[in-house]
Amino acid sequence: MVELEVKKKKKNNSCNNGGTVKGIVTVNPKPNKGLTSKLIDWFENVIVKLMYDSSQHQHYLSGNFTSVPETPPIKDLPVMGYLPECLNGEFVRVGSNSKFAPVAGYHWFDGDGMVHGVRIKDGKATYVSRYVKTSRLKQEEYFGGSKFLKVGDLKGLFGLFMFSIQTLRDKFKVLDFSYGNGTANTALVYHHGKLLVLHEADKPYVLKVLEDGDLQTLGMLDYDKRLAHTFTAHPKVDPFTGEMFTFGYSLSPPYVTYRVISKDGFMHDQVPITISDPIMMHDFAITQNYAIFMDLPLYFKPKEMVMENKLILSFDATKKARFGVLPRYAKDELLIKWFELPSCYIFHNANAWEEEDEVVLITCRLDNIDMNMISGEIKKKLNHFRTELYELRFNLKTGLASQRKLSASALEFPRINESYTSRKQRYVYGTRLDSIAKISGIVKFDLNAEPESDDEKTCIEIGGNVQGLYDLGPGRFGSEAIFVPKVPGFDSEEDDGYLIFFVHNENSEKSEVHVIDAKTMSADPIAVIHLPCRVPYGFHAFFVTEEQLQEQAEL
Ligand SMILES: [Fe+2]
Repeated sequence: MVELEVKKKKKNNSCNNGGTVKGIVTVNPKPNKGLTSKLIDWFENVIVKLMYDSSQHQHYLSGNFTSVPETPPIKDLPVMGYLPECLNGEFVRVGSNSKFAPVAGYHWFDGDGMVHGVRIKDGKATYVSRYVKTSRLKQEEYFGGSKFLKVGDLKGLFGLFMFSIQTLRDKFKVLDFSYGNGTANTALVYHHGKLLVLHEADKPYVLKVLEDGDLQTLGMLDYDKRLAHTFTAHPKVDPFTGEMFTFGYSLSPPYVTYRVISKDGFMHDQVPITISDPIMMHDFAITQNYAIFMDLPLYFKPKEMVMENKLILSFDATKKARFGVLPRYAKDELLIKWFELPSCYIFHNANAWEEEDEVVLITCRLDNIDMNMISGEIKKKLNHFRTELYELRFNLKTGLASQRKLSASALEFPRINESYTSRKQRYVYGTRLDSIAKISGIVKFDLNAEPESDDEKTCIEIGGNVQGLYDLGPGRFGSEAIFVPKVPGFDSEEDDGYLIFFVHNENSEKSEVHVIDAKTMSADPIAVIHLPCRVPYGFHAFFVTEEQLQEQAEL
């Protein structure tokens, strides 16, 4: 996350096939062992021994956050119920799965990207898990241990030393940053015939789904060298035009850069977006005519990190939340309109659309965010942590913004029927959290219904605009649920389809995939796939349809 600038690829790199196959850059880093490497390791060991309390428990490396090894495809899994035909394809979910123990600190965002896939074909299911073969992972495999800086290290004076150690490894070419240093652990998207696995401090990696369900890393995308900055984990694909809209953020100006990628994979010129300070901008949104940027006060503050012994990312509740609405084909930022709302942080938006003079954004809004919550020791309770579904409105004529709460806490990972991305829709599927990172149920919201009043509502339960709640029960925790329509597009009702997600039972240590009816949200699942291995809790999921799977087989 700190090494936000992905450096230009070396001219003399020794890619096996001239560097690219169908626009995919082969990732072939050249790290160096030797005396310099050993001296820096020695220096690092001294710093860690003197300054880091290694006795602290790493919650995000224990229990069902503990890493698992890769699993080759295992066929013919037991299926309770039935797998409908529209689920032919592969359900994939990526997460943080450190291959090597950290040298010191560890934040949940630090692990290597591992993709867990369930290939479904004609009612049968196959499970597989594979690391994304990032430049970072390849280099740590070469050294046989952790070598790259972690977000969890970036706290206090210790963070400054650890950052300096990474700088030394870069300067003396112990590590090769030619291909970035991201973990590819955050999210997946499909565009222009390719399944991309994403991390917001890096460029996209291309993953190929093989016919047996196996997952192969093909390399990295730089869009014919037109991409020289980072790429959000949450780009938006317009289902009507086939275009993909994306941005990257940086520690140096321009802090945000917006890009449009055409249906045929051409990346248009960059549009720098001016904001005052470097921030973590995790998501954005599009409507039919606009892109919406979120300048929210979660700042990178290296000075405060050292002086005040804080994590490098800190939230400033005294600052307003700013939302920039830009015509989505703008060549520059001259026409952007900025709106202000009370301070907040947002990880994920559900969708956005236009209504007359207004742009509407449906989002999960946090009053406050402490990034320490998902770093280091266990943070069991949701004290001081509220994340609620909100409707935000930006009036392009009056310049005024408003917000309305749509749910109680705690809701995250909002998803929709993606045939409606950028257009008005009715249903949002989210996950109910019972701690910072554990999902206790899947919730369906009806945006046409009124939420229950703030005073009465203290938790998410059926009533008001909560049309359904699939409760996972005691000791069972889930992951982001993906909506798979029976028929893509608008020929069927918006909620006529299924929700698919991973579930882990902490008592039996067994993991499953559940398929439920999105229309009824019935407590009786349509199907439960029993998995042969434990699947750790993770981040975002995606469903690769059979049609997409066959299309990307050409790669
Ligand atoms: Fe995310």
